[in-house]
Amino acid sequence: MTPSLHIHTLSREEILTHVDALADILENCVNGGASVSFMLPYSHEKARAFWLNIAESAGRQERTVLACRDERGEIIGTVQLITDQPENQPHRADVAKLLVHDKARRKGAAMALMEALEAQARRQGKSVLVLDTSTGSGAEVFYQRAGWQKVGEIPRYALMPDGEMTATSVFYKFL
Ligand SMILES: CC(C)(COP(=O)(O)OP(=O)(O)OC[C@H]1O[C@@H](n2cnc3c(N)ncnc32)[C@H](O)[C@@H]1OP(=O)(O)O)[C@@H](O)C(=O)NCCC(=O)NCCS
Repeated sequence: MTPSLHIHTLSREEILTHVDALADILENCVNGGASVSFMLPYSHEKARAFWLNIAESAGRQERTVLACRDERGEIIGTVQLITDQPENQPHRADVAKLLVHDKARRKGAAMALMEALEAQARRQGKSVLVLDTSTGSGAEVFYQRAGWQKVGEIPRYALMPDGEMTATSVFYKFL
């Protein structure tokens, strides 16, 4: 990891405090074409509303939200570990919303976030992580580089922000 990057967990209160910074990152990713649940046009208000819901979910201990700060202390990336699972999957968690602002990419932020997320998952007794991402995206290459196992692709799974249909690639990682 780049020594100047710092990863830490955001509490409900910290998500609320930094909601605009987090919304900026989400807005930047969606407007940059990332397939992360949302369609264009995408506004700062919609991104804020998303994070306000996530803050409450974190407050209910359903998920852990991690942030990556740069050398100036600015939040430039984030990822979530969703631990609220059915009672027959106590050992499993989902990974969602790995987002790095485009001004801070290719400097190891996502890798640092995923390493910290895996450590957090282990501490919570999780041994199987699952995620999906748009087939053919940079994120798909990233996950393979980060040691995730690709299960396969589901065609016509979702829409890109501009409305184009995309397949999704399903990944897992054993810890
Ligand atoms: C995918 C994403 C999180 C990667 O973040 P990042 O901080 O730039 O990634 P890192 O710097 O840690 O990359 C580590 C390695 O992964 C690979 N990688 C990362 N982004 C890549 C891309 N766009 N294309 C190809 N390989 C990529 C490279 O091997 C890279 O190492 P290198 O820079 O030395 O070549 C970022 O591009 C992003 O936020 N995209 C938009 C949102 C998104 O699609 N999120 C995934 C939702 S499931």
